[in-house]
Amino acid sequence: MTRELCQLADLEATGAKEIVFIDEPGARTSVFVVKHGGTVRGYVNSCPHARLPLNFRDDQFFDVTKQYILCANHAAYFDIQTGQCVRGPCKGKSLQDFPVTVSGQAILQA
Ligand code: FES
Repeated sequence: MTRELCQLADLEATGAKEIVFIDEPGARTSVFVVKHGGTVRGYVNSCPHARLPLNFRDDQFFDVTKQYILCANHAAYFDIQTGQCVRGPCKGKSLQDFPVTVSGQAILQA
């Protein structure tokens, strides 16, 4: 399914944007897109440690150095490009990929 998630400009404030889908009643899905080093990646917003959303605040998905995706619950650090946990309670596990593509200024679900 191809659908527009957001605009590149929506990532300027924090480098990330959360998008929530409610495709049918009771079926809530949260994903987030991040821009880093000129590439845009998307992941399902569910930590492999305890299956909680990674963020406590809107569109906040990076650690203070902005070199890793951070799970705010128990401080798991994830490689931005691969989604693999490199430090924390789920080291070696990965975020679920959510494929995205960029078309003009729009970020689309691939
Ligand atoms: S839920 Fe993410 S580190 Fe525990």
